[in-house]
Amino acid sequence: MAPATPTRRECVLVLLLLVSILYYTSIRSRSFFVLAPISPPSPHSPSAISTLQEQDPHVYETRLTWGTSEVPQTKVLANVPGWSIIDKLYVFKGVVYIVANDPDTVPDVANMYSKGIEILPGKDAEDSRLPGDEDIRIINTTEAKELFGKTGAAVIDGVTYFVNDHPQFIRHYYHWSAELYFGFWRTYSSLDPSISADGNTTLPQPRHMFFNRIDAFRWRDPTDMNQLILRSSFPDVTMEFNDDWDDRVKMGVPFVFERVVLADRSAAMRAYNFQRYQRTAAVPFGLPGSVNWWMTIRNSVIQFAGMDLDEGSSTTSRPVITYISRQVWGRRTLREEDHKKLVKELYRLRDAHGWEVNVVALEQMGRAEQIRLAVRTTARFIMMGVHGNGLTNLIWMRPTPRTTVIEFFFPGGFAHDYEFTARSLGIAHYGFWDAQSFTSPDTPVNAYPEGFQGNSIPIDAEAVGRLCYDRVTLSLEVDD
Ligand SMILES: *[C@@H]1O[C@H](CO)[C@@H](O)[C@H](O)[C@H]1NC(C)=O
Ligand SMILES: *[C@@H]1O[C@H](CO)[C@@H](O)[C@H](O)[C@H]1NC(C)=O
Repeated sequence: MAPATPTRRECVLVLLLLVSILYYTSIRSRSFFVLAPISPPSPHSPSAISTLQEQDPHVYETRLTWGTSEVPQTKVLANVPGWSIIDKLYVFKGVVYIVANDPDTVPDVANMYSKGIEILPGKDAEDSRLPGDEDIRIINTTEAKELFGKTGAAVIDGVTYFVNDHPQFIRHYYHWSAELYFGFWRTYSSLDPSISADGNTTLPQPRHMFFNRIDAFRWRDPTDMNQLILRSSFPDVTMEFNDDWDDRVKMGVPFVFERVVLADRSAAMRAYNFQRYQRTAAVPFGLPGSVNWWMTIRNSVIQFAGMDLDEGSSTTSRPVITYISRQVWGRRTLREEDHKKLVKELYRLRDAHGWEVNVVALEQMGRAEQIRLAVRTTARFIMMGVHGNGLTNLIWMRPTPRTTVIEFFFPGGFAHDYEFTARSLGIAHYGFWDAQSFTSPDTPVNAYPEGFQGNSIPIDAEAVGRLCYDRVTLSLEVDD
């Protein structure tokens, strides 16, 4: 007898059985993965899902519904030109709507929003950036209901950082960190004036970052610093760009931001503090806030870079001087002989007083290493260099009364970029024109004379050495 061979029918049945077993196991394992990270079911509830709902009844609420009631009104919590915190801001077909029955409670929209186009100099260009009805409108609750319909709006929940800017000034490490990020956090943190020196705050992390005018690849800087800063300070933020914005526009339905921190460079330029310092991030310093406002961001970034928060807190440890050299850049460099004399002078101070002196070129360093350079040092810490992006790292320094930034300019030239940034953190800043030094409030006006960007910036090494000595040995009644 031949061994029994399975019939065609049996094969089909076995196959079906196998497929259904596979199917059910895959469903089970998928739902296992969904549920696993959530806390296990409590004895009082039938499943993990209902536990989650009990913990947060808003989990699946995707809409703000108004039905027969009024459309909930927008509330502007804070506004200085270019920087606003707004609750319930509506966006419909690409237009931003403020719903308010009393328009007198709403600031001038030109101080909040613009056309978000490229910023060119001149009054005509400035006027052409002013927002129109196709950009932002104030409507009352009756008009809102006619426009948005009777049902409601889709909710973009949590805090969203919304940047209405052209790509022009996004990518650069300085503009990202010391303007967009600085201004955003200074504005948002005005809601918590009790941020501690540890950076502890009750503010929730922003959930989203929206750029309605730039492509996704336009925010990363070539040295990857922007990426590191974003992912270390807001690890779970999601980002949207112009494509996503267009998707929402095309859907033709209203969206409502639960809370936005709105940044608009063109609107910020209308402020007195911008005219004065040429920095958009100077404007929100008009809002209330904690003196420790930046510590939340600084501390998360430096911990991400693998460092201890106490690093640099000792007032007795060895003074450290770091000179960030731009000599290999071929733009905005010191006269070569002055650079050599400066290095020699710094090494003389090191040998005479036992200080630590670092002469570094940032382009040869990794990201975390750059941050560590600004943090790992002592309370007697001086960072110096020619005006340029490398000085942006001062935002990671520990502000103490002796912490100092020294910036070299071509004589007659000056820009507030690092001066204002240092001062806003409580760090002393000294500018140098060869042998002459100056500090706030006696700073010169912004000027970019011939030679500012050149490669023959003079510096008097001995004058710099003398200031270093004075700063390091500065006696302080408070902590000495
Ligand atoms: C809204 O404005 C319209 C006029 O444009 C007016 O008829 C209506 O009463 C206003 N509604 C509210 C609630 O103020
Ligand atoms: C800040 O939070 C940390 C960690 O939760 C805590 O150890 C520290 O004591 C807090 N600092 C202040 C000043 O509340």
